[in-house]
Amino acid sequence: MEKVKLGIIGAGGLSTKKIYPSLLYIPEVKLEAVCDLDENKAKRNAEKFGANLVFTRMEQMLDEAELDAVIICIGPEQHAQLAPIVLKARLPVYTEKPPAVDAAGALAVARVAKDTGQLCMTAFKKRYTPLYVRMKEQMGTDRFGKPAMLVMQRSFSRYNNSSPRSTFLLDFCIHLIDLAPWLMGKVTAVHALSPEPNTWAIQMVFESGAAGSLAFCAHTSGVYPDEQVTIYGEDDAMLFVRDGHSLTFVHDRVYHTLHQINLTTAGQEGLVESGFLSEIQAFIKAVQTADRSVVQSDIASSYRSMLAHDSIVQSARTGQWVELKYEI
Ligand SMILES: NC(=O)c1ccc[n+]([C@@H]2O[C@H](COP(=O)([O-])OP(=O)(O)OC[C@H]3O[C@@H](n4cnc5c(N)ncnc54)[C@H](O)[C@@H]3O)[C@@H](O)[C@H]2O)c1
Repeated sequence: MEKVKLGIIGAGGLSTKKIYPSLLYIPEVKLEAVCDLDENKAKRNAEKFGANLVFTRMEQMLDEAELDAVIICIGPEQHAQLAPIVLKARLPVYTEKPPAVDAAGALAVARVAKDTGQLCMTAFKKRYTPLYVRMKEQMGTDRFGKPAMLVMQRSFSRYNNSSPRSTFLLDFCIHLIDLAPWLMGKVTAVHALSPEPNTWAIQMVFESGAAGSLAFCAHTSGVYPDEQVTIYGEDDAMLFVRDGHSLTFVHDRVYHTLHQINLTTAGQEGLVESGFLSEIQAFIKAVQTADRSVVQSDIASSYRSMLAHDSIVQSARTGQWVELKYEI
């Protein structure tokens, strides 16, 4: 197909700031239709980003617009409810994160994707950021060797955790909970301490035998980009991301800075460094070429990250180690 005709469901805060603007940098896509329960928002985004069609009901959009693909950006419950309807209409679908409220919801979507044979992708953006893409590449080199241990730390400003659908762990920490297995391989067991919902100290065991230690805290101002990820390899090899903006490889007592984000980046560069543009590009490319290898975050792997999330919650509640049993 020459251009992928896209419909977007949701014209709220995140999509208007990140998803619609990203399309302006992807010549292979044509925004065909916008749908939001709030007609004013749908009209506003259609006008601003060049779509001809406006809807307030997704089913009507699927019936009347001629689409090649759909993006849904609403919230976890709606992602899990609406994605299967799109898949059953024989269209590929991309949802924002989280793909569902829990692993069971994500698994149900993954099963529909399998049955229909359609692509279902989750916007787990960390898997598309240059920092972590390069980190993963370097982990595959001989000089890094077998990963021994992962250490992650991330903080943010206070969450009120008012709904189980938008907790600090599910809404914010999920990005790094998802990143851990993408970098290190399957998680086989977790143990977690959470004295209160804005503080998490987590241990992970990976299928490879490597260990992980993750700390998340919502007690900062949120202004400082506190995102630290270290992976220890063999001998003295070590890879680390500091402050979510630089990647360093230490080997043979020499430091190599492999990637550094220019903190003044704006527009397209900012969208690339944060992963937003690259993940949408991957989706559009997969739809256009039928090559799914460009997609790093299909719903089956998102389900596995959601199972890690649920197991962390369960462990914090019971005080016990939880072994992960994957359905797919
Ligand atoms: N990747 C990230 O870094 C990141 C950052 C922020 C938010 N998000 C995710 O983005 C998603 C949306 O967040 P937001 O802040 O834009 O929310 P929002 O509330 O601002 O927007 C949601 C929009 O969906 C519309 N809507 C609700 N139900 C609908 C339906 N059935 N059909 C059509 N439209 C419907 C609402 O009217 C609203 O305009 C969430 O899942 C959130 O976790 C991701």
